Amino acid sequence: MNTKELIKTLLNEKDPFKDIIGQDKAKQAVKSALLSNRHIIIVGSPGIGKTTLAKNIAKLLGKKTPFIRIQGSPDLTVEDLLGDIDPIKALKYGPLSIEAFTKGKIFKADKGILFFDELNRCPEKVQNALLQVLEEKKATIGSYDVDFDIDLIFIGTMNPEDTSTEKLSDVLLDRFDLIYMCYPENIHIEKEIVIKKGNKIDNIDVSDKLLELMIHFVRLLREDKNLEKKPSVRASLGLYERSQSNALLNKRKNVTFDDIKDVFISVLAHRIRLKPSIKYLQSPETYIKEQFEKNIIDSEVPEEKKGDLL
Ligand SMILES: Nc1ncnc2c1ncn2[C@@H]1O[C@H](COP(=O)(O)OP(=O)(O)OP(=O)(O)O)[C@@H](O)[C@H]1O
Ligand SMILES: [Mg+2]
Repeated sequence: MNTKELIKTLLNEKDPFKDIIGQDKAKQAVKSALLSNRHIIIVGSPGIGKTTLAKNIAKLLGKKTPFIRIQGSPDLTVEDLLGDIDPIKALKYGPLSIEAFTKGKIFKADKGILFFDELNRCPEKVQNALLQVLEEKKATIGSYDVDFDIDLIFIGTMNPEDTSTEKLSDVLLDRFDLIYMCYPENIHIEKEIVIKKGNKIDNIDVSDKLLELMIHFVRLLREDKNLEKKPSVRASLGLYERSQSNALLNKRKNVTFDDIKDVFISVLAHRIRLKPSIKYLQSPETYIKEQFEKNIIDSEVPEEKKGDLL
């Protein structure tokens, strides 16, 4: 898809990002950023659909548009991103010759999208090199200045709660528009995500009532003030899939409350982190078990709890 076609699609299609359910504000922001050709960073907790949204943008642009993915990690180097001088070729062709230069990933994204997942997990050096390329279309590799006459849309993702990461510098952030994604807006949207994206196992039936119960519990934990790491959509997907396989193992054709009881600790305990004030008193396993026993009974989610908050 060329730029003109993209603009037409963005303006005419009501929902060009069909792989993402809900998140209307984020979708609107992506549309407007793409229309003005701006670089963006999608910000949000793990498992809320950042990668899915970026992939949907790529899908929209079509197969002919390059979509190059870089996974941000502490051992990513400037050379991985930009390229490097190959010493053997440098000897053969001369050190300043273009043949001696092996292009890095960023070149492959020319006239397409550079998708930089978890940008804040890569070293500051890489962030600076990226900045230089996007800003000045130039970079310094070793003692060489290389021109980067490339044209791309940059889409990064970043998880603001990840403490093991580099902080993005203000100068870098100033070059991007930030688009925020949130947990699914309500239980109905999350249910739709789970049904559409979760795996159906051997035709095991999951009643609406029990599916709502699982998602209700996950959403309750997200509201819990004692948790510093909250369960994502992957937790809801996990409960949905594991309860089905548990039913299958018990030779049943439908999920029962007992299946949920059998699997919830294994699905949820490692997906939460208790705040330090409580961490030393209780393990996540015991905490989850207590919360389940306290809040979840074998009944429907009360109608008033299906409101926007939950
Ligand atoms: N709003 C949504 N619409 C559709 N699918 C969603 C939505 N939110 C989450 N998902 C589903 O949840 C799973 C995780 O999504 P994804 O990998 O895109 O998250 P992420 O934000 O990139 O996570 P991470 O930060 O861990 O990389 C996928 O299966 C995805 O389909
Ligand atoms: Mg991701």
